[in-house]
Amino acid sequence: LSSRFVKIVEVGPRDGLQNEKSVIPAETKIEFINRLSDTGLSVVETTSFVSPKWVPQMGDATKVITSIKKKENVSYPCLTPNIKGLDAAIAAGVKEVAVFLAASDSFSKKNINCTVEESFERVKPLIAKAKEHGILVRGYVSCVVGCPYEGPTDAKRVAEVSKRLYDMGCYEISLGDTIGVGTPGSFHDMLKIVSQVVPMKALAVHCHDTYGQALANIHCALEMGVRVVDSSVAGLGGCPYAPGASGNVATEDVVYMLQGMKYETGVDLQKAIEIGNWISDRLGRSNGSKAARALTLK
Ligand code: HMG
Ligand code: MG
Repeated sequence: LSSRFVKIVEVGPRDGLQNEKSVIPAETKIEFINRLSDTGLSVVETTSFVSPKWVPQMGDATKVITSIKKKENVSYPCLTPNIKGLDAAIAAGVKEVAVFLAASDSFSKKNINCTVEESFERVKPLIAKAKEHGILVRGYVSCVVGCPYEGPTDAKRVAEVSKRLYDMGCYEISLGDTIGVGTPGSFHDMLKIVSQVVPMKALAVHCHDTYGQALANIHCALEMGVRVVDSSVAGLGGCPYAPGASGNVATEDVVYMLQGMKYETGVDLQKAIEIGNWISDRLGRSNGSKAARALTLK
């Protein structure tokens, strides 16, 4: 891959839908994922094998992952918080999973009901078992610049959690600005410290756009050498355990910016816009992507 190639990890079906209050039929999710698979995206995060009591919207994980039309060159990772989730994912034929930890104990307790240290004990055997089954594991670290309960995060803590996950066998570490409080200032400082212990090529950025800083933070990360960006069509998204967090940065906006900077993504912007408009319509929301709104009006 050339250094002008940026991999986009589409998280719309998972992060985008997990926080929606209304029941979204599995058929809509399946059509959403199938359509996203036809845009040139190489990764479409599909669902979460989490407790349906904690996140009811993801309760149809097995149905969704087993019903989609899987394309050869597309990866369909699913979130797994524990062995129970991994076992369900294995039974459903999943080839890639993601574990999700945090750089803050308070958020970790609210989100997965354990401390950061306890979460390492949980994911260590999970990663080992996934490897035995030939399953790739991606690692998320939440609250990389700020926590809804504890305020600003110490970058050294992010570096430590990221390195431990990388050393345990996660091939990629996605750095989550869960509540979208980062700026190019805090992102730069955080990435500088994290990239001293995890190679830049193994880092991804996952920006929520609460303060309108997501594209600026992504630009900062690109300048520093990051080549993997998480985003969600129509800017859908949010975590039920992160009060005040808004949607992810919109895929359409990221692709538009990257095209302007002469980066390659392989993603068909027009198709992404159509899907973003379609899913927004289904959810009864306006499209959160500015590029999509501008290009739809044209
Ligand atoms: P717990 O209550 O401590 O778990 O929750 P437990 O082991 O005591 O089990 C409680 C019940 O849940 C039991 O059922 C289990 O069987 C069931 P009961 O006996 O009461 O009927 N259970 C499960 N069911 C299905 N699948 C499973 C599973 N595990 C237990 N895997 C637990 C702990 C981790 C399960 C819970 O806290 C949980 O599911 N949390 C998930 C929260 C979540 O999905 N958050 C959103 C994703 S993270 C995110 O959005 C951030 C990210 O985007 C990056 C960023 O932006 O920063 C990734
Ligand atoms: Mg997120």
